[in-house]
Amino acid sequence: MADRSKTIVVVGTGYVGLPAALMLARAGYDVVGVDINENIVRAINEGVMRIKEDELQSLMADPQVRTNLRAQSTPCEGDIFIIAVPTPLDERKKVADMSYVDDAVNSILPYLREGNLVIIESTIPPLTCRERVTPMIEEATGLIVGDTVFLAHCPERILPGDIFHEIVHNDRIIGGINEKTREMAAGMYETFVKGEMFLTDDITAELAKLMENTYRDVNIALANEFAAVAEGLAIDGQEAIRLANKHPRVNILSPGIGVGGHCIPIDPWFIKEIDPSNSRLIFASRLINDGMPARVAARIRRLTRDVSSPKLVIIGASYKPDVDDPRESPAIEIVHLLREDGYTLEHYDPLIEGMGYSSLAEICRGADLLVVLVPHRVVLDELERTRPEIEKEMHTSWIVVF
Ligand SMILES: NC(=O)c1ccc[n+]([C@@H]2O[C@H](COP(=O)([O-])OP(=O)(O)OC[C@H]3O[C@@H](n4cnc5c(N)ncnc54)[C@H](O)[C@@H]3O)[C@@H](O)[C@H]2O)c1
Repeated sequence: MADRSKTIVVVGTGYVGLPAALMLARAGYDVVGVDINENIVRAINEGVMRIKEDELQSLMADPQVRTNLRAQSTPCEGDIFIIAVPTPLDERKKVADMSYVDDAVNSILPYLREGNLVIIESTIPPLTCRERVTPMIEEATGLIVGDTVFLAHCPERILPGDIFHEIVHNDRIIGGINEKTREMAAGMYETFVKGEMFLTDDITAELAKLMENTYRDVNIALANEFAAVAEGLAIDGQEAIRLANKHPRVNILSPGIGVGGHCIPIDPWFIKEIDPSNSRLIFASRLINDGMPARVAARIRRLTRDVSSPKLVIIGASYKPDVDDPRESPAIEIVHLLREDGYTLEHYDPLIEGMGYSSLAEICRGADLLVVLVPHRVVLDELERTRPEIEKEMHTSWIVVF
């Protein structure tokens, strides 16, 4: 049974840390959210929820949460420390940028006491707990990891847009450095997790998390490669995939314009980083998916090559349909490539603040090509409803939906 009188210090209160802090505060723990971003600290203390999800907004307003959760810009003493800071890709070296994790771990070292549990929720390369965080803790505190202080990797799987449901109902991997650590970590998560919890060691947890997004990346690369072969044959790749998927044991994903977001295009590199010789398929998949924006830009160039100074309207800037997140978006890269080529283009996305538009018909007035790079439901619906009006307004009425 978890001891809810404990203090939990959550370092990094973004998409991952804040929902966890809210859940733990509602479960009855005393929770301190720590963030180097003063605006985030202020918002939490004022009860303002920055993540646009109704249930999280309500959770932030819950009286129990308001009582149990406070935020500050530096850590303090506690019983459990959760690290949920970014682990972006070092774009030049294609390895994990561990500077945020290093800073976060360093920031808690002065407050670590015997019996504390440190949980890394950030996505990290295998061996980070053993070879990076353990020596940091032991050298600075004199505590022994696994004996007098405890360290676990409990990766997060939430999908932004559905965080409230997923943080509770997803199955969870608890990767403790030893049995006692696993039990301590599981005891905390069981206060709000309804999914199954799988207890394992830290290295297995680190690799399993990376495998999940790598699996998606490799399968998307396969679909993109199939689509390229179909294009070479001048047939409809989507149709070929649809037919192949009629096989009872085949499930090819949909090809697209590339892979975006802050997880799928990044996590596979963390596997390659630690074992390049066994990551050839992973590496090839990354190259295929990263090469998609250039392929799409080339396709748009081919489509418009007979028009002098074509005018393009491009819809979509988020990394995937129906979300408002433009991080690592292949659509933005495609627009960048076309702008570099000197194309006249207008770029909109109805889900992204500051990129909205009046109506497709109006923004397509005089255009030669309308390209929907990110097929948001709302855009497809409008296209279906008003296609004749849009085509009437266009100079050359080409409409391409990816
Ligand atoms: N967002 C997701 O859907 C998701 C899903 C699974 C895993 N992850 C992983 O979780 C980790 C966190 O991702 P996120 O989306 O929550 O990032 P985020 O950018 O939304 O939030 C991270 C927060 O950490 C703060 N921060 C940075 N350094 C700090 C420090 N030294 N001390 C205190 N605060 C600090 C930042 O100001 C920011 O508010 C990453 O490793 C990510 O890969 C994210």
